[in-house]
Amino acid sequence: MRKFLIAGNWKMNGGEQFTFDLLSVIKNQKPAISEDIDVLVCPSFVSLSIAIDQLHKSDVLVGAQNIHEAEKGAYTGEISASMLVEAGCSYVLLGHSERRAYYHEDDALVHKKLQTALRNELAPVVCVGELLDERKENRHFEVVKAQTLATFEGLTYEQAVQVVVAYEPVWAIGTGETASPEQAQEMHAFIRSILAEQFGDAANAIRIIYGGSMKPANAQELLSQPDVDGGLIGGASLDAKSFVSIIEIAESLTNSVREIDSPTTLEED
Ligand code: PGA
Repeated sequence: MRKFLIAGNWKMNGGEQFTFDLLSVIKNQKPAISEDIDVLVCPSFVSLSIAIDQLHKSDVLVGAQNIHEAEKGAYTGEISASMLVEAGCSYVLLGHSERRAYYHEDDALVHKKLQTALRNELAPVVCVGELLDERKENRHFEVVKAQTLATFEGLTYEQAVQVVVAYEPVWAIGTGETASPEQAQEMHAFIRSILAEQFGDAANAIRIIYGGSMKPANAQELLSQPDVDGGLIGGASLDAKSFVSIIEIAESLTNSVREIDSPTTLEED
């Protein structure tokens, strides 16, 4: 079974004090997390160490929001994958639409970063998703297909199953507008079909999570879709009550609706 991943993308919000306070409330409201789901928070670089210290004995994982594609060197202001691993991070967000739009990250650069993350055993969460105009012009499948193929190009099966895809329709990010559960499922199944062409049945082991105004009010419907394996949550992850409530919704769904091939079954093929 693919484990749900519930991930908070804090973006450029919250310094150390905010991080400490928010995580204290989350830990207090949710002292234990089911083994059937993964929970991740991605604070800013300067708040990572406080988050890692605070979550040391908890089940909540910590990730970063970006890396540089090089292992090290003269790149003033940048952060490497190995620095993050040494700090205690286990995941990194890559190719978020805000980075693609404001920092000109294209598919080729995102792919280089992905390879660097994998080399350093940092699990990449790679964001893909179409702009509003692209959906209006009915080009959303084409756009997401190109991003997905570029992400997974040349990866082995062992590498591919480390990658999490986050489908984030750009028109739904921070807008309060969410993809309908049907739109999300349609795109997630489409992404999985592209992965199946490259990796066969192994595509069933790759997690595809949804992002774009996920909140407690819509999480149940979105997470009930068979190909939606979790959420990448921006705004609602900055509020302990909302984030905890999405975690609880995911926990409540793990036993009921998720009857999915496990990687163990796949390896036997
Ligand atoms: P949002 O952000 O939940 O605030 O829409 C999601 C994201 O950008 O990852």
